[in-house]
Amino acid sequence: MECLTHFRLLYLLLVLSIAMSASMTEDLGTYIIHMDKSTMPMTFSSHHDWYLSMLSSMSSSDGEHPTHLYTYNHVLDGFSAVLSREHLDQLEKMPGFLAIHADTFGRFHTTRSPRFLGLDKNAGSWPEGKFGEDVIIGIIDTGIWPESESFKDKGMGPVPDRWRGACESGVEFNSSYCNRKLIGARSFSKGLKQQGLIISTPDDYDSPRDFYGHGTHTASTAAGSPVRDANYFGYAKGTAIGIAPKARLAAYKVLFINDTDASAASDTLAGMDQAIADGVDLMSLSLGFEETTFEQNPIAVGAFAAIEKGIFVSCSAGNSGPEGYTMFNGAPWITTIGAGTIDRDYAADVTFGGGILTIRGRSVYPENLLISNVSLYFGHGNRSKELCEDFALDPKDVAGKIVFCYFNQSGGVSQVREVDRAGAKGAIISSDSEIFIFPSFFIIPLVVVTPKDGDLVKDYIIKSENPVVDVKFLITVLGSKPAPQVASFSSRGPNNMAPMILKPDVLAPGVNILAAWAPKFALTWVGENGLLTDYILLSGTSMSSPHAVGVAALLKSAHPDWSPAAIRSALMTTAYVLDNTVGSIIDMDTGVAATPLDFGAGHINPNMAMDPGLIYDIEVQDYINFLCGLNYTSKQIKIISRRSKFTCDQANLDLNYPSFIVLLNNNTNTTSYTFRRVLTNVVNSPSVYRASVKQPSGMKVNVQPSMVSFAGKYSKAEFNMTVEINLEYARPQSEYIGNFGYLTWWEVNGTHVVKSPIVSAFAL
Ligand SMILES: *[C@@H]1O[C@H](CO)[C@@H](O)[C@H](O)[C@H]1NC(C)=O
Ligand SMILES: *[C@@H]1O[C@H](CO)[C@@H](O)[C@H](O)[C@H]1NC(C)=O
Ligand SMILES: *[C@@H]1O[C@H](CO)[C@@H](O)[C@H](O)[C@H]1NC(C)=O
Ligand SMILES: *[C@@H]1O[C@H](CO)[C@@H](O)[C@H](O)[C@H]1NC(C)=O
Ligand SMILES: *[C@@H]1O[C@H](CO)[C@@H](O)[C@H](O)[C@H]1NC(C)=O
Ligand SMILES: *[C@@H]1O[C@H](CO)[C@@H](O)[C@H](O)[C@H]1NC(C)=O
Ligand SMILES: *[C@@H]1O[C@H](CO)[C@@H](O)[C@H](O)[C@H]1NC(C)=O
Ligand SMILES: *[C@@H]1O[C@H](CO)[C@@H](O)[C@H](O)[C@H]1NC(C)=O
Ligand SMILES: *[C@@H]1O[C@H](CO)[C@@H](O)[C@H](O)[C@H]1NC(C)=O
Ligand SMILES: *[C@@H]1O[C@H](CO)[C@@H](O)[C@H](O)[C@H]1NC(C)=O
Repeated sequence: MECLTHFRLLYLLLVLSIAMSASMTEDLGTYIIHMDKSTMPMTFSSHHDWYLSMLSSMSSSDGEHPTHLYTYNHVLDGFSAVLSREHLDQLEKMPGFLAIHADTFGRFHTTRSPRFLGLDKNAGSWPEGKFGEDVIIGIIDTGIWPESESFKDKGMGPVPDRWRGACESGVEFNSSYCNRKLIGARSFSKGLKQQGLIISTPDDYDSPRDFYGHGTHTASTAAGSPVRDANYFGYAKGTAIGIAPKARLAAYKVLFINDTDASAASDTLAGMDQAIADGVDLMSLSLGFEETTFEQNPIAVGAFAAIEKGIFVSCSAGNSGPEGYTMFNGAPWITTIGAGTIDRDYAADVTFGGGILTIRGRSVYPENLLISNVSLYFGHGNRSKELCEDFALDPKDVAGKIVFCYFNQSGGVSQVREVDRAGAKGAIISSDSEIFIFPSFFIIPLVVVTPKDGDLVKDYIIKSENPVVDVKFLITVLGSKPAPQVASFSSRGPNNMAPMILKPDVLAPGVNILAAWAPKFALTWVGENGLLTDYILLSGTSMSSPHAVGVAALLKSAHPDWSPAAIRSALMTTAYVLDNTVGSIIDMDTGVAATPLDFGAGHINPNMAMDPGLIYDIEVQDYINFLCGLNYTSKQIKIISRRSKFTCDQANLDLNYPSFIVLLNNNTNTTSYTFRRVLTNVVNSPSVYRASVKQPSGMKVNVQPSMVSFAGKYSKAEFNMTVEINLEYARPQSEYIGNFGYLTWWEVNGTHVVKSPIVSAFAL
């Protein structure tokens, strides 16, 4: 799952009992079939009729016809169907048949975050972007909890006339649940049902209603209405508000509660197809499919059709960090979002010996429990007790006490459970492991202290005859430093499928984000009790993609004529790379400065993105030329581009992207790389810019010309950037450490600054 609530999942698996149909014929499978529409016989009035006729002409020895699932109108030319081996053989011989792919499965991959992003109702992106007014965001996710306060439509004008979507009735969902905020809700489950998943309450709803809560969280993060006093059991109290609070939301449910196969490619394609047909302006997907070449990845295929219609597509980068080459959703037409922390922390104060020592630790334990003058237990001298390993604690020793332990690298949940099993009152764990940023670990009164503070605790216990503690929970720390940091789970570049494009594109908030939740499901288990809440803290790149799409909605509202690539360029060239201590953004995993392979161009900065000065634009044909450059076959390119005719005489891997990456390894002999770029002025006046380069070590970067001028809005200027590599020095010695620097265009006598990372990385 892309949203990191592993522990909850364990509970989920125990609680769930999704019945599986055992009667599925062995050789039946669900397939996505790509067709060449230009070969459709004239006798058919629509391609849908053509496909149905093909399917009805096919038969098996047992007399069965194939079952049609979806006809796709936008994302691809073709359909999905349940076919036997015999059907497959017949289908492959039919005229117009292009390719077939077996269905695949993907997985899921905020009160203060708007403030952290610098959004202000009186100045900057919020008023300039009209709070996202009349921009429609499609959220492709687990559905929606329509009663949430975050989806109230107070003060919103009528639904835009151009909207063609619908609010589908279904299980516990009535079309009357939509309003001027939530303007559409649909559900797509045919593909998953073919896998034998029976979707029935109370395990999930076969309707747009959100069971899991993930879609409600992402939708309210992107465009939730303001809700006063939202909080997670007292933490993070404040007004919860989406990034584009006046934007409209349409929910497309393609993810269902099922750990292994949460989302079928056939359903995801159907959801994206419908979102395009309905008229969304932007889409966000917080899920990922296994990384394959782009024509086999439903999100890459669907997103290509979307951007062709001017729809901006933002996706989660994945939670497979901190190793390199772990990106999801890295197609160059997608805007790929990594996760960073915000400047808010959740804490507990621990006082030892009635005041001898006080330490602030991290905790999101959700109860206002009074712990005062309680005995402390530490099994020092016995390693298994020090680590609270399974069955190491004796209930006789620890009952009613607070246990102190050291974190065991492979422990975490199991250590917390051991403390619980032994009947202790709570625990203090010494650890700098990031796993403890997840609320789902706090099933007992638990405080996590740094190893340095842990040593002080140990010292106190050893020296004290009768060690005791007081603990005060429910402390929210604002303005914590340094922030942002790159979350260690955030997937890192380069992107396997196209490493010559730097990914992720940008970083956005994705750690302990407070947003709306489906209050159906016990969220946190405290002993035997599941606590329910309307708002929840979640972490993951799932949370960062909706932040980015919210900012993109503000930009789209202010600049309706900007292409998806222009919006991405504005987000990238204005992103910041320094944290709130004015130091380099740190990688939480290593504790040292992160690189563009971790954060892309940097952390999004909505107020600056509104007015980037210049943009690097990309047209659809450029992406086709890029696929040609990747040596994709004409069949692969036809599938992605839905064009029956195209040529590859302009093959070009050097997309007009606002970032630069050079790939090196021990076999590299090339020492010079040239990037060709075109800048477009998006300001309503003439302007002049001068290039400056922060040279990456071991590289010599030269920009020609180093000064560019623009006659007016939309006037363009070309430049070439040459990177000379000193292979002895710049060659990355280990797989993921790259040297990096920046190219910055400074406006002469103006304020615009257009910045791009230049990075070298290890080539696989
Ligand atoms: C849906 O809501 C409308 C209006 O509240 C109501 O008249 C109708 O009976 C509801 N339909 C279902 C299926 O519950
Ligand atoms: C999810 O569905 C798959 C089949 O598609 C099945 O094997 C698996 O057991 C299901 N998981 C749950 C939690 O029901
Ligand atoms: C703490 O508890 C002990 C007995 O367990 C008692 O002697 C002591 O006075 C208590 N201290 C405070 C500050 O309440
Ligand atoms: C951590 O705990 C696990 C499970 O309790 C145990 O198997 C392992 O040996 C422990 N690791 C260390 C480094 O102590
Ligand atoms: C350490 O504690 C465990 C669990 O209580 C016990 O089984 C083991 O014998 C102890 N080892 C030593 C060296 O005391
Ligand atoms: C594409 O094929 C050409 C010719 O074989 C080769 O030189 C080039 O490296 C290939 N490009 C990629 C991205 O694999
Ligand atoms: C590359 O070459 C360097 C120096 O010759 C060597 O230390 C390093 O191990 C090599 N790396 C790989 C991946 O072969
Ligand atoms: C790179 O150069 C070295 C020696 O200079 C040579 O042995 C090697 O074959 C060259 N590699 C390629 C890919 O050209
Ligand atoms: C960039 O380089 C290309 C290829 O060498 C050349 O044709 C073009 O004129 C150069 N552009 C500029 C602005 O120097
Ligand atoms: C910038 O301002 C200076 C001083 O006013 C002027 O001399 C110069 O020509 C201006 N440059 C541009 C590109 O406008």
